[in-house]
Amino acid sequence: MTDNYKEITEQDDYIEQAGRIVRDRSIEAGRDMTYHVTTFGCQMNARDSEKLTGILEACGYVYEEEESLADFVIYNTCTIRDNADQKLYGHLGSLVNIKKRRSDMIIAVCGCLPQEKSAFEKIKNSYSFVDLIFGTHNLFDFPRLLVKVLTRENTKGKGHLVSEIWDGTDRIVEDIPVKRNYSFKSGVNIMFGCNNFCSYCIVPYVRGRERSRESADIISEIRSLAADGVVEVMLLGQNVNSYGKGLDENISFAQLLKQVEKIEGIKRIRFMTSHPKDLSDELIDVMASSEKICKHIHLPLQSGSTKLLRSMNRQYTKEQYIELALKIREKITDIAITTDLIIGYPGESEDDIEDTLDVIEKVRFDGAFTFIYSKRSGTPAASMPDQIPEEVAKKRFARVLDKVQQMSCEMAAKNEGRVLDVLVEDINRQDPGLVTGRLSNNLTVHFPGDPSLIGRIVPVKLTECKGFYYIGE
Ligand code: 5AD
Ligand code: SF4
Repeated sequence: MTDNYKEITEQDDYIEQAGRIVRDRSIEAGRDMTYHVTTFGCQMNARDSEKLTGILEACGYVYEEEESLADFVIYNTCTIRDNADQKLYGHLGSLVNIKKRRSDMIIAVCGCLPQEKSAFEKIKNSYSFVDLIFGTHNLFDFPRLLVKVLTRENTKGKGHLVSEIWDGTDRIVEDIPVKRNYSFKSGVNIMFGCNNFCSYCIVPYVRGRERSRESADIISEIRSLAADGVVEVMLLGQNVNSYGKGLDENISFAQLLKQVEKIEGIKRIRFMTSHPKDLSDELIDVMASSEKICKHIHLPLQSGSTKLLRSMNRQYTKEQYIELALKIREKITDIAITTDLIIGYPGESEDDIEDTLDVIEKVRFDGAFTFIYSKRSGTPAASMPDQIPEEVAKKRFARVLDKVQQMSCEMAAKNEGRVLDVLVEDINRQDPGLVTGRLSNNLTVHFPGDPSLIGRIVPVKLTECKGFYYIGE
């Protein structure tokens, strides 16, 4: 019996046990027991939340839209920047009085934030009404923790908290129940963790070392997703370009993509995130010749200044990044390149901002997420001299944002008038006569349509570019 098989059988037993308790409580209350999952952060967390939801529904919990009314509230947290931490504390703050009235409500916190020691202590001490705390490494163990919290004798005061935080893990547990947010598209984890230790970033400390999944497990997951009606997959990892390192099999990310390409039923393949230092010519060639890989690459630059890139431990220079981006543009027709930028990193000068603006001009990004540097304790950048005052960072941020927006509008306008394939995702929230979908290059299009189009890929004429999205017909 493999470790994974044992793990899953055990978790199935716990799901059954939790299911019996949830059923008894429903009978007692004369209504369904309900849950609400709130997700902060990246695509990885969104995927993890689909697993949490899958487990809760397998235990008999029913979705409740209003957080404060649910019987089981769980926050899947992020800690990449301080505002992500503050979002959690805001939500917890709003539950203080509700929890006083409804002591049977169970509040759980999981994800990245509690894997950071001081944050764990803060949740435990300042929000002592929280019932359950665990992290990303032991998410697969949620059914057992759920049974533990549901069967506690002490549900109030000291000693009521169930918490298990692992320092790290080298394991990957397969086959956790999942409830997808969309029927026609899905994230697929291909690796976990990060080994890069960019000087500003907390991820390697909370998500642990890089671990790739066996390609056979990934392919069989995507095959069953395709059989279940999924047409678009997003391959997820902090640094997908180093996929395969450490596995017994000899496989690169480009080779994995080639295998995914062969899966019948899958029409679009996306991936996130690429580190520029590991992006191979092999990957560019595979993308250039692929019918299914979307014409979009997210390639975080962080800064255009070689001096800051060195301090950030990014392992490329301004010139190397530009050369790589232009090579991608040259070899892959119609590719959209988007990026992440950090403003206000320690030691940043006006010249460094000029370098960033220069790269934006030369690469002509189709889009960029721009962040003000946030000090993460325990990272090398947190103790660097020359921290940038907030007002200075805000002014620089506004300049860079302006440039980025102007550039992405110019880039988007180039497609006006063309007829391109759109994967329809939703009914438009403002106008129910419109549907909303995505182009291969990741831009959004709104056009007249009805719910029967959701999940289908249709040709749409892009009649008007509105900057970051199109109106089509
Ligand atoms: N401050 C600001 N932005 C950060 N990022 C990561 N860590 C920090 C930080 N401490 C940004 C990077 C990364 C994105 C996911 O978040 O740009 O690419
Ligand atoms: Fe953080 Fe750098 Fe790893 Fe991305 S590559 S998760 S920025 S350490």
